[in-house]
Order: sequence, then structure tokens, then C-alpha cells
Amino acid sequence: MPHDAAVKTATPVPADHLMGVYNRAPLAFERGEGVRLYTDDGQAYLDCMAGIAVTGLGHANPRLVEAVKRQAEKLWHVSNVFRIPDQEKLAKRLTDLSGLDVCFFSNSGTEAVECALKLTRKHHAANGQPERIDIIGFDGSFHGRTYAAVNAAGNPSYVEGFGPRLPGYVQLTFGDHEALKAALARPTTAGVILEPVQGEGGARAVPDHCLRGLRELCDAHGVLLIYDEVQAGLGRTGKLFAHQWAGSARPDVMALAKALGNGFPVGACVATAEAAKGMTVGAHGSTYGGNPLAMAVALEALDMLSDEDLLQHVRDVAGFFTQQLEGLKARFPDVIVDIRGRGLLIGIKLTPNNRQFMAWARDAHLLVAGGGDNCVRLLPPLVMTQAEASEAIEKLERACERARAELKAASAA
Ligand SMILES: Cc1ncc(COP(=O)(O)O)c(C=O)c1O
Repeated sequence: MPHDAAVKTATPVPADHLMGVYNRAPLAFERGEGVRLYTDDGQAYLDCMAGIAVTGLGHANPRLVEAVKRQAEKLWHVSNVFRIPDQEKLAKRLTDLSGLDVCFFSNSGTEAVECALKLTRKHHAANGQPERIDIIGFDGSFHGRTYAAVNAAGNPSYVEGFGPRLPGYVQLTFGDHEALKAALARPTTAGVILEPVQGEGGARAVPDHCLRGLRELCDAHGVLLIYDEVQAGLGRTGKLFAHQWAGSARPDVMALAKALGNGFPVGACVATAEAAKGMTVGAHGSTYGGNPLAMAVALEALDMLSDEDLLQHVRDVAGFFTQQLEGLKARFPDVIVDIRGRGLLIGIKLTPNNRQFMAWARDAHLLVAGGGDNCVRLLPPLVMTQAEASEAIEKLERACERARAELKAASAA
């Protein structure tokens, strides 16, 4: 069975002094350039995972390399007890672009989510409603690995064995509108958190009209709407923010990270002033979050990510990918079950085991990410050209041929 082979190829390489929390591929890279990664013996791999939606602007992007060098020679770090001018600049840019009002900078996506969740409860406490603590989330979500984030997503494999579930986190079935209406009407509900396009869940997009409906319901019940755009945000879907496809469904709070630093660790929690009213002196903080080095990189990255030409390019290349993938699905209906997602956050639901398929793609020198619901995700750098996308499709075709042969051999056995 392909499943057995998947386990074999995914066996972690010996790394005796590392905690065994990652299912690592037996492959290491020495350098990257644009859409390619190179091993130390010079073998090139086409990167269609971009460090899981991180290196959107490509590896070793010259403007970002220059920004790091420039800032590294001036000032890496000062504490947040001082003003950090680039933090103020980046906050102004992010709030102008999102229509929100204030930012808190973190080092990762899960910390941006953590801030969003704390802010939400604090908002209601500041409003004299401390009983509003419940955070509504959805199955198939992923919000990171802090206790609050795993409890908000509720994925059993990330919460089991870590002691009791935290109180005040409720998961609903994705798409169960009646349960959602009932949950939002409860007097203990503080906020609802969702990814406008689920990433790890298998590239599942929330329909635009559902986001708009959710915004209305949240307004009606005084519940804060939190978007986790850590993966889908910052150009990945072809709009700067994924929720912008829905037009009038602006959040109260939004978590960003990944592409914001193109690999330099930085995240942001962006909110309306009203939502953040409880975030007063001492309510939250971070040693590294928003330090001058991170801010210099993020300012430069955001400048490129918010460029309308780049966003149009993402929409064009995404259209090409989708059309080509539909063709592949038509040629390999025994291998590909569904193509889904939005922009360059693409899910391919498979018949063979997705981990095994990732190994076959690697054999063709193509890197793709895994995902829930037996999907592989294509998360290429946003700067990938159509010619490079064609190359990715050819490599995927090779993986599909291999999958077909293996499936046939397994059914004959
Ligand atoms: C939607 C979403 N939220 C949060 C996170 C957590 O981000 P980080 O790994 O930077 O903590 C991720 C990471 O994959 C993500 O995809």
C-alpha cells in the first residue's frame, strides 16, 4: 500500500539532539535563490511551498538582503520601553492598508493569534462584560502552537496529552450556520476566530457571502471578528488581505506573520482602536517583538507585497495554475480528487496518501506542502513566473504518473 511507503520516506533523519516533533524529509538545503532551493551538492529543487507560505518574495530577495545588511550595521535591538520609529512606520502602513487602527508586533504567527485572543477578552472586560470569554473556532483550523492557539483550533492531535482543555474555547463544524448563529447569540461569547482560507486544513476557502454574513452577525451581537491571516494574508490569495475578496467583511482583529518578514521572524496583531481598548500599559508585551531589525525587513517586504502589480501577477499566475491543475485532474481522475483554495494557496486533494505524493514530487525535484483532508498544498513564491509554474505542472504530472503506477500495482497485489 502507498501508505506504508509514505511512512518509510517520511522517517526522520537521525538527529539525536533534536526533539522529535517534526516529520522531516531526508533533504537539506544550503542556499536559495528566487523560486529555487539548492542542496550542498548543487541539486536544484523548484520551491512550491515557500517555507509554508513564508518566502513569498523569493529566496535571497536582493531588496531584503540589502535591508537586513543596512539595518544590521546600525541597530539590531532595543527594548520596547523605547520608541522604535520603524515600528511606528510599519504600524501606520499596516493600518492604512487594512483600515484598522493599531498594531502589536510579535515574532511569530501563533503569538499574533495569542495577542488577538487576549485582546478580545480584554475588550469585553474593559466594557464591563468580563463574563464574555468564549472564543468560537472551526474544525480544520490551525492557529499555531501556544496553548490558546491549539485550544482555539481544537485539533485533537494538538491538544491531547497537554492536560485539560482551556475553558472558553468552542469549535463548530465548518459551514454549520445554525450552530454559528446560536453560538454568537450566547451572552458569554467574546469573539469568533477563523482563517478566511484555511491553510493547514487543506486550502478550504470560506465563501465571500459567509464572511459578510458573519460580519453582520458579529455586529448584531457585539462579538469581535478575528481573522487569522497568518497564512492567507499578505498577497497570497491575490489581494493584500484574503478577506478583501469579500468586500465589506472587515475584521475587528487580524493576525499576520509568515510573509511579513519573508523568513525573518515577525508577526503582527492589527485591530480597531475600539477592539483594542483594553490593551493598556502592561496588558501585553514581548522582548523581541517589533525590534529594529525585524521592522526594517518587514517595512521593505510590505512595500513589495502591497504593490498592485505583484497582486495582479499573483492573480494571473494563480489563474494559470488552476487551469493547468484542472487539466491534470481531468487526465488523472484516479489520482486527483479535487482542486481548491484561492490565489496561490492551492489545495490538491488526492487519492494516494499525501505524504507519499510529497515524496514523489520531491523525486521530481518539486517541493510541495502537506495539508489536511489528504491534500497537498501548492504555496509557491508569489513572484513565480508562468514559465516556472509550467515547470511545476510538468513535475506534478510526473508525480501523478508515479502515483497511478503505484495505485495500479497496489490494486493488482
Ligand atoms: C493560519 C495560521 N495561523 C497561525 C500559524 C502559526 O504561525 P507560527 O508557526 O509562525 O507561529 C500558522 C502557521 O502555519 C498558520 O498557518
